[in-house]
Amino acid sequence: MTTRLFHISDVHFGVEDKAALDAVARAVADERPDAVVCTGDLTQRAKHSEYAAAARWLAGLGVPVVLEPGNHDLPYYNLWERFADPFRRYRRLRAAVPGDFASPDVVLVPLRTTVRAQPRFPWSDGVVRPAALRQTLAALAGLRDDPRTRIVIAHHPLLGPPGQRRNPTIGGDAAFVALAAAGAHAVISGHVHVPFDQLRSHGGQSLRMIGTGTLSTRLRRGVPPCYRVITCAPGGEISTEIRSLPGAAR
Ligand SMILES: [Fe+2]
Repeated sequence: MTTRLFHISDVHFGVEDKAALDAVARAVADERPDAVVCTGDLTQRAKHSEYAAAARWLAGLGVPVVLEPGNHDLPYYNLWERFADPFRRYRRLRAAVPGDFASPDVVLVPLRTTVRAQPRFPWSDGVVRPAALRQTLAALAGLRDDPRTRIVIAHHPLLGPPGQRRNPTIGGDAAFVALAAAGAHAVISGHVHVPFDQLRSHGGQSLRMIGTGTLSTRLRRGVPPCYRVITCAPGGEISTEIRSLPGAAR
């Protein structure tokens, strides 16, 4: 048996691509994946109305939904809330959608790369804080003898594109090495709005990095809206297929 996930990202409710979202919802209804995994940036400005639209759409899918927040999901206009309780709106969304996913084939381990503030501007790029990495490594340590495929889910890719010297994710290099050494098979992410599926090597470790594009109108490098189908069997067996929705692009 295998487990099939639909990996979506960067939906950016507020500037979402409605035709693309309709296409994804139809595919979910037709194919009934075991879960839909969204690696962040569900909203454009973390407004209550955008969160409400995200909750309606996700709850309407009728399958378990696994979420990880992105930089756009932290309060943007309400700075007091951003600092006091940055993930409050996100937590409320998570409680409102069915999130109970368990599989005999794969286990999804979250890694938080989104922070309320950081020593640079803008605050959109990723940061892997030591505490966040420790939490993910502890979860992986508990899975050492587990035969299931171990996939880390994060909003920001841990490394920049191959050949790019500067890593936009602070702490990403060390996290890549530590997660690979801890037995992760892959990291799936969003943020860059461009899909990729690469076996990367860094610091003496190898790890598969899988990203999907956006389902919003914020297209980059001419890449149309898309999502990815990820099929998993135990032992690190992962196959993926990107599904572009060019007809949906405006
Ligand atoms: Fe992002």
